[in-house]
Amino acid sequence: MSSVTTRPTTEDDITAAVIDRLQGTPDPRTKEIMTSLVKHLHAFVKDVQLTEAEWFEGIKFLTDTGHMCTGMRQEFILLSDTLGVSMVVDLISHRKPAGATESTVFGPFYREGSQPRANGENMATADPNGTPCVIAGRVLDTAGKPIAGALLDVWQANSEGFYDAQLPTHDQLQMRGQYHSDNDGRFVILTTRPVAYPIPTDGPVGRMLKATNRHAMRPAHVHFKVSADGYEPVTTHIFDGGDAQLKKGDTVFGVKDSLITEFTEHPAGDTAAMKGAKVNGPFVTADFDFVLKPAK
Ligand SMILES: [Fe+2]
Repeated sequence: MSSVTTRPTTEDDITAAVIDRLQGTPDPRTKEIMTSLVKHLHAFVKDVQLTEAEWFEGIKFLTDTGHMCTGMRQEFILLSDTLGVSMVVDLISHRKPAGATESTVFGPFYREGSQPRANGENMATADPNGTPCVIAGRVLDTAGKPIAGALLDVWQANSEGFYDAQLPTHDQLQMRGQYHSDNDGRFVILTTRPVAYPIPTDGPVGRMLKATNRHAMRPAHVHFKVSADGYEPVTTHIFDGGDAQLKKGDTVFGVKDSLITEFTEHPAGDTAAMKGAKVNGPFVTADFDFVLKPAK
């Protein structure tokens, strides 16, 4: 005698069957995430009536994205960034109390183990043609009290718009440094003025931007990871308020108003503005205080 089949026969049956198969997931959060992922993936496929050829193209795109990843190139982060997913995660994850420095995208170019540097030390010796730039400020708590010994892990592109990992000398860590705030919470970073740059477009993310007629530019910025014992770390940028690309938009949607600061131009020899850094020729300065909220 044949039994009544319970095998799924329609698209909706398949969705229900997969979700049913997840019921035994021991970890509740994994179950929640997997269930929602299946629901949304299936809804997407049904919404656009995805063809087999398009499904193959999607698999190829994700395969190419994986193949593009190396220790120095993270194409999946770039994909997440350009689809705005990174910023949605950022906004959900970091609801700061008023006054704390806002976070933004981590980006694909962070590298572990950059050089510890004294306040005022130049982290841009590999960029002799850039405009010298002194970034100075304090690390504070949300009550305005200076935080001594905070770590500021700093990285940026050179004045040609390239990160060290994109250069022929990619084995060397360049345009990076680990600075610490002093007893008054102060720090002084000597670098070169950041410039707007295109994200790498020689991979699948570049193909996606081209297919959707999107620009690949990011406004001029310097990356920071600021941390201190007893406080929540913040991963963020400061943006050059004078950069025209700010008005044209950021391909990864990372700009927040509170992270835009003025970069002021100075003639050679303005020693007060140098704040102890040794600068030759005209230079720019940016003042920015980082405010950390207490750890939970
Ligand atoms: Fe960047």
